[in-house]
Amino acid sequence: MMDLMTDNKVHDESRQGEAYAPFANDPNQYKKKFYIESYGCQMNFSDSEIVASILNSAGYGATRDMEEADLVLLNTCSIREKAEQTIRKRLTEFRKAKMRKPGMLVGVLGCMAERLKANLLEEEKLVDMVVGPDAYRTLPGLIVEAEGGQKSVNVLLSRDETYADISPVRLESNGVSAFISIMRGCNNMCSFCVVPFTRGRERSRDAQSIVAEAQDLFDRGFREVTLLGQNVDSYYFVDEKSNETVSFANLMERVALISPDLRVRFSTSHPKDITDEVLHVMAKYENICNYIHLPVQSGNTRVLQLMNRTYTREWYMKKVDRIKEIIPDCGISSDIIAGFCSETEEEHQDTLSIMDYSQYDYSYMFFYSERPGTLAARRYKDDVPEDVKKRRLQEIVDKQYYLSLDSNKRDVGRTYKVLIEGESKKDANAWMGRNSQNKVIVFAKEQYDLKKGDYINVTVTDCTKGTLLAVIEK
Ligand code: 5AD
Ligand code: SF4
Repeated sequence: MMDLMTDNKVHDESRQGEAYAPFANDPNQYKKKFYIESYGCQMNFSDSEIVASILNSAGYGATRDMEEADLVLLNTCSIREKAEQTIRKRLTEFRKAKMRKPGMLVGVLGCMAERLKANLLEEEKLVDMVVGPDAYRTLPGLIVEAEGGQKSVNVLLSRDETYADISPVRLESNGVSAFISIMRGCNNMCSFCVVPFTRGRERSRDAQSIVAEAQDLFDRGFREVTLLGQNVDSYYFVDEKSNETVSFANLMERVALISPDLRVRFSTSHPKDITDEVLHVMAKYENICNYIHLPVQSGNTRVLQLMNRTYTREWYMKKVDRIKEIIPDCGISSDIIAGFCSETEEEHQDTLSIMDYSQYDYSYMFFYSERPGTLAARRYKDDVPEDVKKRRLQEIVDKQYYLSLDSNKRDVGRTYKVLIEGESKKDANAWMGRNSQNKVIVFAKEQYDLKKGDYINVTVTDCTKGTLLAVIEK
């Protein structure tokens, strides 16, 4: 699973445990330095860019070197127990750094901060600040409190915070693709999921500010934006001045109209909310990428009902049919959970067969991890033994391996327009980019005068499970 994931910033939550730390653009401009690591979903990575912007205004510049930081932040994830364990381990390592540099402040941001609140200060003694996803504007004040020796906590969730006016500082950017947060929170209440508790109610960001951010990115040379939200298809904004309502399809169209050279992607869709209108807009604009992340979670109707996903197996299959009907070459990926409460062997087989039916190009696959406070934790027993969960997950992973490989093999001989993201990590004489379907394509630079951010047509000659190999079309 890793090879696609490392290159793939569009896909969401699978980046679990994979952290990155930003580098300072202009380290000498600021009096103090902060170091931030982000874990979990793309939304966290995007939030860290908002945090960076707020901290810049408070006189803190980013550094990649934890040792020289005055403030060390972890933007955390709670989605599975393993994610929290990884973060706790990392905090232990921070303890050593703090011992070397006693004045250094340590803050925990994101979902784990929200879930554990002030308890985190009890559990992890070195932590000075606990700040939830809707409280980042108060960071400068919280830092002052912490500098005065007082532990500080703000985990208030908001009904309207979207950070619309904050211009994110693009951390560790390739200068070609960027994420734009369009909404926050989730109202869906899937029974296994902790997100509605850690990120609060759904709210949509001002459409104009989104389009302005996309325009600004394009003007600065970016060529791809991913519209980001826990459930982008329920985006809905009413412009108070014009009284105009903006749906997700409208919003996507507005962004696509900035330039045919600006690619538009989005993540994540809930199958129940993705409308024909969205699919038609995707089909209408060449620069809206033909790729949908459509998490199925399970292929069995009874399990889906327990998960509170609000669709059946058949309904999901029809959605897949509809996508292929309107956008025949659309790439589809999924999230899948193995061994949810009371799942039987036959029900697990339904998940394997819906994978075959949907022909996923890619999947993020997990075994069920009970999260305290969720509907499932309160209502159902986590009764599938761990070895069974792991075996089922392995079967799902094996199935996806062949589906991905088959999907890539079908592409051999085809020609795709690729947006160049940079040099191939393995070969300085090759470029790496993506096609509309979000597949990674690597091809030799040859004698052409190309650069990052350029589009080029390439023909696929070979593939692995995670990458298409190609040559520039002559
Ligand atoms: N256990 C396992 N996987 C989970 N996910 C969400 N909550 C859990 C959980 N408790 C998965 C879902 C979701 C993805 C982001 O993480 O598949 O789509
Ligand atoms: Fe969690 Fe479901 Fe909301 Fe996704 S749609 S964040 S899985 S509750």
